[in-house]
Amino acid sequence: MPLIQEIDYGTPIRLSPKQVTLTIDGHEVTVPEGTSIMHAAMDAGIKVPKLCATDSLNAFGSCRLCLVEIEGRPGTPASCTTLVAPGLKVHTTSENVRKLRRGVMELYISDHPLDCLTCAANGNCELQDAAGEVGLRDVRYGYAGANHLDAPTDTSNPYFQFEASKCIVCSRCVRACEEVQGTFALTIQGRGFASKVAAGMDEPFLTSECVSCGACVQACPTATLMEKTVVELGQPEHSVVTTCAYCGVGCSFKAEMRGDMVVNMVPYKDGKANHGHSCVKGRFAWGYATHRERILKPMMRAKTTDPWRETTWDEAIAHVASEFKRIQAQHGRGSIGVITSSRCTNEETYLVQKLARAAFGNNNTDTCARVCHSPTGFGLSQTFGTSAGTQDFDSVEHADVIMVVGANPTDGHPVFASRMKKRLREGAKLIVIDPRRIDLVHTPHVDAAYHLPLRPGTNVAVLTSLAHVIVTEGLVNQDFVRARCEDDSFADWAAFVSEPHNSPEEVAKTSGVPAETIRAAARLYATGGNAAIYYGLGVTEHSQGTTAVMAIANLAMATGNIGKPGVGVNPLRGQNNVQGSCDMGSFPHELPGYRHVSDPTVRAIYEREWGVKIDPEPGLRIPNMLDAAIDGSFRGIYIQGEDIAQSDPDTHHITSGLEAMECVVVQDLFLNETANYAHVFLPGATFLEKDGTFTNAERRINRVRKVMAPRAGLADWEVTQAISNAYGFPMHYTHPSEIMDEIARTTPSFAGVSFAKLDAEGSVQWPCNDKMPHGTPTMHMDGFVRGRGRFFVTEYVATDEKVGPRFPLLLTTGRILSQYNVGAQTRRTANVAWHPQDLLEIHPHDAEERGIKEGDLVRLASRVGATTLHAHLTDRVAPGVVYTTFHHPDTQANVITTEYSDWATNCPEYKVTAVQVSPSNGPSDWQTSYAEHSRVARHIELVPAK
Ligand code: SF4
Ligand code: SF4
Ligand code: SF4
Ligand code: FES
Repeated sequence: MPLIQEIDYGTPIRLSPKQVTLTIDGHEVTVPEGTSIMHAAMDAGIKVPKLCATDSLNAFGSCRLCLVEIEGRPGTPASCTTLVAPGLKVHTTSENVRKLRRGVMELYISDHPLDCLTCAANGNCELQDAAGEVGLRDVRYGYAGANHLDAPTDTSNPYFQFEASKCIVCSRCVRACEEVQGTFALTIQGRGFASKVAAGMDEPFLTSECVSCGACVQACPTATLMEKTVVELGQPEHSVVTTCAYCGVGCSFKAEMRGDMVVNMVPYKDGKANHGHSCVKGRFAWGYATHRERILKPMMRAKTTDPWRETTWDEAIAHVASEFKRIQAQHGRGSIGVITSSRCTNEETYLVQKLARAAFGNNNTDTCARVCHSPTGFGLSQTFGTSAGTQDFDSVEHADVIMVVGANPTDGHPVFASRMKKRLREGAKLIVIDPRRIDLVHTPHVDAAYHLPLRPGTNVAVLTSLAHVIVTEGLVNQDFVRARCEDDSFADWAAFVSEPHNSPEEVAKTSGVPAETIRAAARLYATGGNAAIYYGLGVTEHSQGTTAVMAIANLAMATGNIGKPGVGVNPLRGQNNVQGSCDMGSFPHELPGYRHVSDPTVRAIYEREWGVKIDPEPGLRIPNMLDAAIDGSFRGIYIQGEDIAQSDPDTHHITSGLEAMECVVVQDLFLNETANYAHVFLPGATFLEKDGTFTNAERRINRVRKVMAPRAGLADWEVTQAISNAYGFPMHYTHPSEIMDEIARTTPSFAGVSFAKLDAEGSVQWPCNDKMPHGTPTMHMDGFVRGRGRFFVTEYVATDEKVGPRFPLLLTTGRILSQYNVGAQTRRTANVAWHPQDLLEIHPHDAEERGIKEGDLVRLASRVGATTLHAHLTDRVAPGVVYTTFHHPDTQANVITTEYSDWATNCPEYKVTAVQVSPSNGPSDWQTSYAEHSRVARHIELVPAK
């Protein structure tokens, strides 16, 4: 595909229903009221020269290049800041404006390096283009006057440079940072000739508040802000639209290429999840795809203490198939299983669960969503009837109250966080329920109305207490409840939440949140207009994760905040395809589309399609597979794209289970931690190397498009298919689109989905079927999918994980912007500049009591394990609470997380672990033995492949 050049209309689109007709250069144009003359001219195919305007930003009117003449009006107004009016007659090319524009351009060029031929932006520079458009032929002032040509270049950011000598001070970068990203890291410093762009307090970009989202780089019309890859590799010559493989926002990008080399990833304006914005991960952190540590040949070894031996795909796949058959022959059909990945495509995930159900003949399939959003699936299916969020991201623009529970969007879902912050700057009110003072509580121009810093593990108590206030103060939306919800379950729930033990005054004692704050937050949520709840793993990763999800759904139903734009219940999914991997039947009890395996009608659909009988009994979940391995009844596993040894809780239990198996097959990009326990390693393909789809947190199915050949020769779906064929269950797909066709044939909510439709429409949100052929942005509009909404009683049951004299602090975990999940990808990029290690956040009071100072190495111990890491003293966490991230294998926070899990789904209780923190002299015993194990297990004997 040639290089995609999106049209820049100069100013944002306006959607007013009122239309205005005017004449531009003799052409009659009709546009919505509020449109700029510049935009209207573009609609008519007339390009007015511009520099400070771009359609992702509000008009600013500083460069004076876009001047026009309007009959009957004096002067030459800027077309970017002048709005259309009925009957206007506009002239964009009169001699007068052409002369003025040339004069303006002369001034710019008189203070600009004349190095176009060697400039990295040559051929893709708006200043260069504009000089051509205005017909500049000479600069009357010469180039010898005062200028900025010696201004230094800031190369501190690992991904882009700021070449100040080329800056025309158009302020597009400053406005992008404010309006699009909401970070306010840039400013125009000084006045007149001395004005210049400054990051932070006139410091290097790297040390400023800049979060490297790239919005300023994209907005810059010159080579001033420039990606280092473009500087190094040259301008791209073709592009492919694809989807980011990091978080559940699912941003669309143009992968801009030279040959098969990625030069740049530019957020795609038509991407419906991101509308042209990005974060540092998707925009810049893609270098892992060509990292030297990628494993590009299959490898095998008899024992995990042996060195790895490179082999061929044929030998590896034949070995996997024969080992799995041998194990089943000796230990039974259920002795092997699979783990699908929320990082792989829908098609790949579908195929892996199909391998288990159709080829292996059992339902031993599970996914990493087990450890993150399985309570969402179960909780929302019980209350609403669908295991997914209710809104699209655009919905937030209609929210008046935003409640964020157990999520940290600015780090975990940054592009959506920018949308949210924009809405908050426009006046929406914010409630944050989180033990930690996340960034959103206080960001530029936004302060949360209420922050409820609850003790970890008390979500259900606090959410139920909000309901207590809503019911007892008469704030229930009775009309909605009567019309849309079950009478009986509502009555039971209302009576339950009204009980005195659920009052804010009582709950304050367990949660630590002042009663008045709970009351005020509840009143705001119930009466503040459109109220939307966004929640994350701080809700689900608890022993009562499912109960908390139900409590959230109860709140939304009781207040009528469901079934229209601006409201809803919105799980923020961690990984790119968590929603998709759940949709595709990865769980052991559900076939694709969340239909229970015990349902004979559903089984019949797949039995017809696959030509085999399907086991009606649910298979094993991940923790049960590991239990069974330790017991000896589970002996072989195929893990595609997951690193359970690092990402799952209670590491000792995981590794014991893996060690007990006879054939562990790991398919991944790198030798991950789980591969230390593997007998076969199959190289994986990055998102750049394959076709398929991801489904984001708003149920949006986005295309993933291959931009380069799989570096190891096969895409992941081809590997699964080869294993299945070698095992004896034939699969004959020639392209992932055929897998999607099968998904559509067998799954009602995907019935209308095909690659052809996605290519034509960009993306669709499921359900997509005959009734909703273009997808469903907002769920439950006319009624709940299950019929009437069902309320659930949400009795708070304290976790068994209790603080005591030995372990007096509560540990909770989370993510940081620059790193992703277990860090396998982001640690292999320059993102380590921001987060080279996991730190332990501890309140200064707790630190002082223990003699711990900033940066000290500390021992973090729970009853199941201990690790060491460096301390960071901060009052972001309350006294009694400590916090860390889990991105680095050498600290491995999960060594200390416990075996406790959600009562309904087994989702681990990552967010609450009783710990002690003490000064340390060196790595824990575990870290030392682990490092040695990794060294041995990773040894690759370079025996050439046959
Ligand atoms: S990269 Fe993003 S955060 Fe940094 S200055 Fe540019 S717009 Fe602001
Ligand atoms: S850096 Fe680029 S966008 Fe920012 S003021 Fe200079 S020329 Fe304009
Ligand atoms: S990591 Fe998430 S927010 Fe960032 S670019 Fe990728 S999808 Fe978008
Ligand atoms: S583009 Fe209109 S004033 Fe700059």
